[in-house]
Amino acid sequence: METILEAKNILKVYENGVIANRGVSVAVEENTIHAIVGENGAGKTTLMKIIFGIEQSQEGEIIFKGEKVQIRSPHDAIRKGIGMVHQHLMLAPDLSVAENMILGKEPLRARLFLDTDRAVEITRQVSEQYGLKVPPDKKIKDLPIGVRQRVEILKALFRNAELLILDEPTSVLTLQETEVLFNTLKDLKEQGKTIIFISHKLKEVKQIAFLHLYRSVSRYCVFAISPLLTMREFWFSTSFPSMLEPARSSVWPVWWVTARPS
Ligand SMILES: Nc1ncnc2c1ncn2[C@@H]1O[C@H](COP(=O)(O)OP(=O)(O)OP(=O)(O)O)[C@@H](O)[C@H]1O
Ligand SMILES: [Mg+2]
Repeated sequence: METILEAKNILKVYENGVIANRGVSVAVEENTIHAIVGENGAGKTTLMKIIFGIEQSQEGEIIFKGEKVQIRSPHDAIRKGIGMVHQHLMLAPDLSVAENMILGKEPLRARLFLDTDRAVEITRQVSEQYGLKVPPDKKIKDLPIGVRQRVEILKALFRNAELLILDEPTSVLTLQETEVLFNTLKDLKEQGKTIIFISHKLKEVKQIAFLHLYRSVSRYCVFAISPLLTMREFWFSTSFPSMLEPARSSVWPVWWVTARPS
């Protein structure tokens, strides 16, 4: 299996001096569901923002589909085939599902007016293609959170995302909605997509995946290998020698979990 995304030795220091990522490396194989688990403030969202072009790292590199890339903005990321569903959803509450779907990609009628009929048609098409039901005419603010999230996922898919990042998607969902989301993620994987999924909850990640854990603390790494680990995954986790260097400084720990569907 090919590696679709690699982040190597990422350093991100915010303007206020907070070190959110240091020496962080992670690799994601194509067509897998890859989970990243870490405690509050561990730097998960920051790393994803770097991959999606919202933040820029001071050090490190990103390799996407075998090429070293500079992702300068979300627009850049989307163009390359990366989509992101944020921890706090980014939809316009007073607009309809269809309007949100095409926001920024508006089909214009007579080059002036928003073509609502076309927007509804596009929404129906994409919704059908991925088997994700959404009501095109309803306003976002009138929909339950699970459906809003589905709109965000569809929006990314409509923009041809091959790699889909979901930042703590289950934190706002009920157990039932979580189950629906997991089925969606499995379906998307079946359709060839790659998914990075951030979570606080190991228990939950286990539902859709085998686990392998390693604990990365700054530039060194202490392994905590789960019993479910396969040899292949072990090789995978040791393929970053920089993460095995001895301790150089003390930074709060980050837990990475590479997960693959069982
Ligand atoms: N824009 C910012 N400016 C300054 N510091 C920030 C900024 N964004 C995040 N931080 C800090 O960087 C660190 C990592 O934050 P981040 O949001 O990436 O963590 P996280 O793992 O996603 O946490 P959570 O589980 O709470 O979502 C935290 O200490 C946070 O306070
Ligand atoms: Mg976060």
